[in-house]
Amino acid sequence: MFAPHTYIERRKKLKEKVGTGIILLLGNEESSINFKDNWYHYRQDSSFLYYFGITHPGLTGIINCDSGEEIIFGDELTIDHIVWSGSQPTIAQLASKCGVNKTLPTSKIASSLKGLVHYLPPYRTKNQWKLSEWLGSPMNFISKGASIELIKAIVSMRSYKTAEELTEIEKAVNITADMHLGAMRYAKKGMLEAEIVGKIQQIAISGGGNLSFPVILSKDGQILHNHYHGNVLQEGDMILCDTGAETTMGYAGDMTRTFPVGHEFTQRQKELYQIVLDTHEAAIAALTPGIQYKDVHLLAGKTLVNGLIEVGLMKGNAEEAVSAGAHTMFFQCGLGHMMGLDVHDMEDLGEQYVGYNDSLNKSTIFGLKSLRLGKKLEKDFVITVEPGIYIIPELIDMWKAENKHAEFINYDLLETYKDFGGIRIEEDFVITESGSRLLGKPVAKTINDVEQVRAESLGLMHE
Ligand code: GLY
Ligand code: MN
Repeated sequence: MFAPHTYIERRKKLKEKVGTGIILLLGNEESSINFKDNWYHYRQDSSFLYYFGITHPGLTGIINCDSGEEIIFGDELTIDHIVWSGSQPTIAQLASKCGVNKTLPTSKIASSLKGLVHYLPPYRTKNQWKLSEWLGSPMNFISKGASIELIKAIVSMRSYKTAEELTEIEKAVNITADMHLGAMRYAKKGMLEAEIVGKIQQIAISGGGNLSFPVILSKDGQILHNHYHGNVLQEGDMILCDTGAETTMGYAGDMTRTFPVGHEFTQRQKELYQIVLDTHEAAIAALTPGIQYKDVHLLAGKTLVNGLIEVGLMKGNAEEAVSAGAHTMFFQCGLGHMMGLDVHDMEDLGEQYVGYNDSLNKSTIFGLKSLRLGKKLEKDFVITVEPGIYIIPELIDMWKAENKHAEFINYDLLETYKDFGGIRIEEDFVITESGSRLLGKPVAKTINDVEQVRAESLGLMHE
């Protein structure tokens, strides 16, 4: 946890921004996997963490904008809990760590919620159910009743990372870098993908925290979020590894590397890898306060298309191809997202409020609808840059049957790439006064550097 004054100041600012009414922030409970007492790894709600910092299940906080009163609600452990889980600080002791000096049992919440109550859209059914009970409102009205003022106020605070947050994020990114280097050094032909996932998880947990999201790792890198790890790796395969750590305080890292199972990429892999790398570098060079991230995304699309034209997979004019959306045959998702206490920071509050604003709406067209961040970048935003090329056989078949964008896509050559897989390169950046700064230590990224790591790990010399 940060020192109490961090949380006191954050709550003070939030009260000023929201102005009037009661702000209700729900912490998370333990969540059962397959029977009541078998729980998922516990994760506190990120906005609760931001304003109260306490990683403890079953707490709720209220901040009264009118009277200034702040209360943490929770129930003390019974002897039965202590027998199984050990003793814990009292609720008052926990609350004092974030500068809250009033606590009450959970049973007192409903009677404390009089008048205007601001709450966030719940993403767990249990919290939806609690809100329904406390506010006397039907379950299906709860999400609609979430406070836009509170969402906007929280986004306007959590989007700008302070120095102490950046230190914590950088800690997560450094562990993330170790996870990637560990995977790159560990992989060998004949291995099950799951063996590398195990290695990655070991490094994340050894770092003191956990994963910031379930590992995405596969030779089928064209599947954007592939959590299947049952393939046996063979020479000639590429592994796409997208993974991140979170610190004990909940701050995330998120990186992607793509590397060969053997010690070298094949010629085709090299060509497309270089295109993704060039796109990644072009996007990074464009990062600066004031630029719309949507424009960086479109610039990345143009760089990607120029590379694909060079290898013959696309044709025509790159700018026109991107305007028409033809690049989404290869790059179906967005260039990146905000990162902080969530790997997709504040996504539970709504992408329209986090990545867009009143003057820029999120698109609904294929490709752009998956761009989580489109608005202008500002100093102290933390974002990811993650371009990729994904060869998706079903998409090729579908578009080819419709002759879609045939003036830009060379379908005959693309047919021969159907078993190619996917490539993504991802790093995390903080936006500075004049540009951006890479977070965490660098991890091999050029073809030569990646092959060097692979050669060393396989006990081979690399020219
Ligand atoms: N790293 C997973 C994602 O950004 O969606
Ligand atoms: Mn990401």
